[in-house]
Parts: sequence; C-alpha cells; structure tokens
Amino acid sequence: MNLTLRIWRQAGPDAPGSMTTYQVSGISPDMSFLEMLDTLNEELITRGDLPVAFDHDCREGICGACGMVINGQAHGPERTTTCQLHMRHFKDGDTIDVEPWRAAAFPVVKDLVVD
Ligand code: FES
Repeated sequence: MNLTLRIWRQAGPDAPGSMTTYQVSGISPDMSFLEMLDTLNEELITRGDLPVAFDHDCREGICGACGMVINGQAHGPERTTTCQLHMRHFKDGDTIDVEPWRAAAFPVVKDLVVD
C-alpha cells in the first residue's frame, strides 16, 4: 500500500504545531498502525529528519498508552487500540490524518505524545 500521511508535528508543549505531509510506500495490510508509523520513522531517521514521537508500550492492546486520533476518530476506524488497528482497514492511496488526543487535561508534549 502507498499512503499519504498528514501528521501533527509539534516540537514541544509551547511550540506551534502543524500538520506535515509524508508519503509512505510498501506498507503491508497486515502491519499494525504503529508498525506503519515505525516504517515512516525509519525513513525519516535514514534521511536525517526527526522521527514522529508517539506513545506506545505493550503493543498488545492492554496498556492503553497508544492513544491518538486517526481521521478524526479516537484510535481510528475500528473499536480497538491503535496498536491493534491493522492497515487492512485502509485502502491503497488513502490520505490519513494523525493527530494527538486533544484535550485541555492532556496537553501535547511532542507530536502525538500528550501528558
Ligand atoms: S501500546 Fe499498549 S494498548 Fe497499545
């Protein structure tokens, strides 16, 4: 799958943030959403850019650390955690918006990470 990602990038709590567009290719439908972000981050690191910061821990759907908003929906299109969301729920050529969980009680620390 080839995808366009529009991801919220914010250097720190007091920095202005904005959506940044990335292209990713070669994404397997069997990858989890976080594995897809890992693929993007490997590409960013390879070319000397900062990786996208996002929270995760167990990657087994247990801890709840991986909260983010995907296309305006908490955790994306499935009723599951982001780490258990698989790319088969998207289509080749899709544009996907990825934002932090926005709430006054959870200020953005960096990119998709909230306090
Ligand atoms: S990383 Fe633990 S539930 Fe997703």
